[in-house]
Amino acid sequence: MSRYTITAALPYTNGPVHIGHLAGVYVPSDIYARYLRLTGNDVAFVCGSDEHGVPITMRAKKEGITPQQIVDKYHAIIKNSFSEFGITFDNYSRTSAKIHHDTASEFFKDLYANGKFIEEVTEQLYDEEANQFLADRFVVGTCPKCGNEESYGDQCEKCGTSHNATDLINPKSAITGNVPTTKETKHWFLPLDEYESWLREWIVEGHKNDWKANVLGQVKSWLDDGLRPRAVTRDLDWGIPVPVEGADGKVLYVWFDAPIGYISATKEWAEREGKDWKQYWKDEDTKLIHFIGKDNIVFHCIIFPAMLKAEGSYILPENVPANEFLNLEDNKISTSKNWAVWLHEYLEDFPEKQDVLRYALTANAPETKDNNFTWKDFQTRNNSELVGIFGNFINRVVVLTNKYYNGQVPTPNSFSDVDEQTLEKMREFPQIISNSIERYRFREAMNNLMNLARLGNKYLADEEPWKVIKFDEERVQTVMFIALQIASALATLSEPFLPFTSDKLKGILNVTSSLSTALKTGSVENSWNGVSEKEVLLPANHRIQEGKAELLFAKIEDKEIQIQLDKLEATKQANEQANKVVEPQKETVEFDYFTKLDIRIGTILEAVKVPKTKKLLQLKVDVGLDIRTIVSGIAESFKLEEIIGQRVCVLVNLAPRTLRGVESQGMILMADTKDGKLAFIEPERDVENGESVS
Ligand code: 2FM
Ligand code: ZN
Repeated sequence: MSRYTITAALPYTNGPVHIGHLAGVYVPSDIYARYLRLTGNDVAFVCGSDEHGVPITMRAKKEGITPQQIVDKYHAIIKNSFSEFGITFDNYSRTSAKIHHDTASEFFKDLYANGKFIEEVTEQLYDEEANQFLADRFVVGTCPKCGNEESYGDQCEKCGTSHNATDLINPKSAITGNVPTTKETKHWFLPLDEYESWLREWIVEGHKNDWKANVLGQVKSWLDDGLRPRAVTRDLDWGIPVPVEGADGKVLYVWFDAPIGYISATKEWAEREGKDWKQYWKDEDTKLIHFIGKDNIVFHCIIFPAMLKAEGSYILPENVPANEFLNLEDNKISTSKNWAVWLHEYLEDFPEKQDVLRYALTANAPETKDNNFTWKDFQTRNNSELVGIFGNFINRVVVLTNKYYNGQVPTPNSFSDVDEQTLEKMREFPQIISNSIERYRFREAMNNLMNLARLGNKYLADEEPWKVIKFDEERVQTVMFIALQIASALATLSEPFLPFTSDKLKGILNVTSSLSTALKTGSVENSWNGVSEKEVLLPANHRIQEGKAELLFAKIEDKEIQIQLDKLEATKQANEQANKVVEPQKETVEFDYFTKLDIRIGTILEAVKVPKTKKLLQLKVDVGLDIRTIVSGIAESFKLEEIIGQRVCVLVNLAPRTLRGVESQGMILMADTKDGKLAFIEPERDVENGESVS
């Protein structure tokens, strides 16, 4: 048994949690924590709300309420949705808790007292109109490293670089849009440069074989660029006051206090459970693992470790398995643009389907590269894999056990080679899945779990008990006995990935729920390794649940998916509306000038492409006066056959122009649409060709 402290990035309480957060951090960390508990380890799995920092104050401004109201609102939503989703944090705390303010203040004071900071008055960006210093997300500008024009003051989301606000090129205030001035102010800096060679040795050398390539790559690149002292205090009014003399109006930088939140959350849990928190943070035998998204790598691999090292009595992370990002329907997930699938809304729309989302997110986890979530994929994963493979196997086992044996596990007769091999293969699965989980390869691990269901399906398909029953009842007893062992193994091994399914399946098979037992009593029944070690998982004569077989998974219909797609479409349109830039009005013209334009209603009769052009169509248009040729740049907006018979408005007295050798005798009036295409303007009632538009 080993001791583990597992942390999941503290979500900012500036909005609810979405599928990007789940896929990157909370689902994998929960799988890991559940797995470790099942295999008998001592685990503290902690998280909590990150309630300080500029994102909170900005959201409060947007919603017209106080930062305190914002954090209270989102803390409640996030905490409830995690719990309903089955994320088994041992403690979900918050950084506004007194225990956290005390812990973070003590940490700062300790470093201060031991001379670990540089105290310096420097010029910082200042917004004269808003009357405040600009740091972090209050300022945007061009990233000095990658040229991204929308980098924040403390971090560029594009290349992940962390910098000081004064490094930005062309900085602008996010509050007023003004170009900032600078003003002198005192701050405390952590001299990261002093930790550079130690960090290189510890991570780049020491962990080159066990940390993920994306994490090592980022760390190496920052170290190669050279580290510089980093301010850990801010001139803001929202946060933990800097606990030393002469720091009025200053708070701790949110990225100084937030990771200490892991420690405070552990302390809070330990107090409640009568444990010693120090064992989880100061004992060299404890393994500390941070689950985060890639934008948090610098804070967990450089800044927080430097803080822990400076303090001196803490352990360092054993691994930081950061994930890449998940996109949604090919677009970047964004809280501010509402482009997300929000967990609390998912739980309302798909009650009892927590495991389907856990499954879809794990199967498509952005472990080595950014990935894309689509509702169609979600539906297919459910219908073809969960229903089609896992659910199908269990259903067949349960239905046949009820039908042939009234729900009692039959006594097996002699095992054939195939039976022995099948059982042998089944016993290999705990090790196979463990190997993947322990290397943080959760998609691989879950695919292996599904392979166990596939093994069961293949066994039944090959042995065909429904046929054999007609001539060899003894053989069917053995086949069903083996199939039931596989069902039982699935119930245990699915627990980290599909905990609700695992519980339901244990109910169906009438075995104890190992996780709930383990959590309550500390003992582990039906344990992970038991699948390999025990001769028999479900003994003969054991009774499974009586009555009609409950289905593990239900098909998801197209209409349920359409509702979600419509929701996203509505968001897209609302965003377009909000961002609509209407061209400014042109200069005024006299009425006489306008009456010179002769616009008529017409009908398109023929259309051909103008050779060697992408945009041009040569049209024959009946404009009432005559049938004339008009060359129009609309080829990319329509299919040729769609536009025959189309009613149009035509400027008929435009001086003829020759385009690509064809004389155009007028112009069709078109509307520009948001997607860059063109739309016809047509009369709302039937109007004769040649009628004037005025
Ligand atoms: O990126 C974020 O959402 C941060 N709130 C993560 C903080 S993790 C930790 F260090 F607290
Ligand atoms: Zn950048």
